[in-house]
Amino acid sequence: MKKMIIIALSCLALLPARADEGMWIPALLKKRVIEEMQKAGFKLSADDVYDVNNPSLKDAVVGLGREGRPFSHFCTGGIVSDEGLVVTNYHCSQSLVQAHSSLEHNYLRDGFWARDKNEELANPGITASILVSVEEVTEQLLAAIADAPPSRREAALNEAITRAEREAESVTTNARASIKAYFNGTRYFLSLFKIYRDVRLVGAPPSTIGSFGGDADNWTWPRHAGDFSLLRIYAGEDNEPAAYSRENRPYKPATSFKITTKGVQEGDFVMVFGYPGTTREYLPSFAIDQLAEVENPAKIKIRTAKLDVIKQAMASDELLRIKYYAKAASVANAWKKWQGEIKGLTRFQVAASKRELEQRLVKAGNDSLVEQYRQLYDARRDLLLAWNHVAEAGTGGAEIMSLVATIRQRLRELPTVKDLTAYRASIQETANAFFKDYDVATDRRIFTEMLRLYNSSGLDEQWIPDVMRHPNPPGGHERVAADLFERSLFTDPARLARTIARLDAREAKRLQRDPLYRVMEGLARFMDRLRAPLNEIQEKLERLDRDWMRALVALQPDHHFYPDANSSFRVSFGKVAGYEARDAVFYAPNTTLAGVMQKDDPASMDYNAPPRLRELFESSGDVPVCFAATSHTTGGNSGSPVLNADGYLVGLNFDRAWEGVMSDYAYRPGICRNISVDIRYVLFIIDKYANASHLSREMRVVP
Ligand code: ARG
Ligand code: GLU
Repeated sequence: MKKMIIIALSCLALLPARADEGMWIPALLKKRVIEEMQKAGFKLSADDVYDVNNPSLKDAVVGLGREGRPFSHFCTGGIVSDEGLVVTNYHCSQSLVQAHSSLEHNYLRDGFWARDKNEELANPGITASILVSVEEVTEQLLAAIADAPPSRREAALNEAITRAEREAESVTTNARASIKAYFNGTRYFLSLFKIYRDVRLVGAPPSTIGSFGGDADNWTWPRHAGDFSLLRIYAGEDNEPAAYSRENRPYKPATSFKITTKGVQEGDFVMVFGYPGTTREYLPSFAIDQLAEVENPAKIKIRTAKLDVIKQAMASDELLRIKYYAKAASVANAWKKWQGEIKGLTRFQVAASKRELEQRLVKAGNDSLVEQYRQLYDARRDLLLAWNHVAEAGTGGAEIMSLVATIRQRLRELPTVKDLTAYRASIQETANAFFKDYDVATDRRIFTEMLRLYNSSGLDEQWIPDVMRHPNPPGGHERVAADLFERSLFTDPARLARTIARLDAREAKRLQRDPLYRVMEGLARFMDRLRAPLNEIQEKLERLDRDWMRALVALQPDHHFYPDANSSFRVSFGKVAGYEARDAVFYAPNTTLAGVMQKDDPASMDYNAPPRLRELFESSGDVPVCFAATSHTTGGNSGSPVLNADGYLVGLNFDRAWEGVMSDYAYRPGICRNISVDIRYVLFIIDKYANASHLSREMRVVP
């Protein structure tokens, strides 16, 4: 019986219209989506979700970003009290917890719980955006560029976008506007935000709870992580965004999420609010082939080399383990997902089903589109591979390169700097932040491996930057790296600080002669060389993408298309569901604390639950921990509030299941699952583990 359901589900996967798939624009729910949600069990109205005139659920959703680029949200959060308390994932705050940690205050190991508001910790640079409104601006933009010649289209469009953004900002106090392209660049929407800049850390469990299962469990189901943390948004006296100040007050939201402890079961309706980053559901087969056969394998290989070095360092020393904890997790995260993507794309024959669709499009008269796609992807192949190498093993290889790059960037300002003291101080601040979690010996080993890898990559010479080309160095690549690292002053915090302290045109020249600066220079020049032809192809691809979208819509006029994720606000919905992972392996949708105890292993870095958790398990009994559902999510949806049919908060999204991580390119309802931490586990950890009930008392919790 179950088998039949599975077969039926995988057949469904071939049909264009599917429930569960899709990331919808909340402002457009009234057009069809809300009906589908209600059919699936949702009991509220479109206005309950999104309303510009009255408080609605959207007012309790927070996009977490960084100053400078607040619109590319790295995570999502949900407001759960009328004093601006926010729940998000542990892994979203992990770098903040780390930044506040030291050997004396090891919050990664011990957790952190502010006993009152005075103990909450500031996080300069972190922003929390709250959506004011979303509005389609396609017609107005297209009208603005109607007379522009094709060669000016891009520039004219960007000008029109900036103009429209500034205009929107001028009519609402303190609002920031962001226009993004949707549906392969065929439509544009303007989002208006209030962006709060004083976001403080309130609570986080120890990493042994917050990322229980570590990198071993990452991207897999079944899951047992208490992946949550608490932040608080602060505002000025007028409740408006303000720079950090002790005088700021907790933000008073228009509304906050109500929490239910009712829990969820297989088949229950759930919806996810959030800021999914990037998906590409409408790519042609050529792109999928290239991803699975060229791009991902190359990036995986480079990161494997990097991770081997980092893991060795972490295993050798407790301080290094603290320093590299978050960095290792972030290198490993994409590395593992890319591997899952290859598996999923292959197993579900995604390229083949794309080719079928392309055949239909060819029959409908689009043969030149398909052919142009083929040629462009062919032309892009080597360039992209070279780009991936330089980005992963060059500028993104050894960590020191990022410091060199930042300082190189800052030197450009020097000729026009007015306040030299402030300029030097801010560069020194960047250096301090960098060195806090830096280990030069480890980094030198990473650099060595990157050199080794480049020179054994089999890449044609023209695709290897000169500064990385050392086919057979006397003394080996170790010698090359050691030499650069010893002669450079970037790797020596004291020497670098002395140079920064007297930084002027002459000292800048000295920095520019530095051996690692020269490496950076070489990499940058190499990237510039690739950029022009890559951009040219990219522009052509974008033009094709627009025609492609129109052709797809023409081919399937009744299909309800959703736009790819672009870091804008979306709603996904689905149901709580297990799945058949592979032959004869079925997964249930809920996990429990008993499961944490089954995995617990003090000898393992990944599964080392704190002893107090076992005591609580023995004294308080079992507690639900995580659940899986069919909602369509991606990176950026971490920390997304997960609501039930009545609109109550039941969990926080934090991951996807291994067999379905190709959903960024092809969602398959039988196998794609998002993973959430059950809100009851969140409350259990706050109340019972951390004795921090003063925090849960702020929340509106109902049975
Ligand atoms: N895979 C999830 C995401 O993409 C969680 C990553 C953090 N967790 C971990 N164990 N490294 O962000
Ligand atoms: N962990 C991801 C994030 O940080 C969410 C998981 C996914 O990619 O679906 O946003």
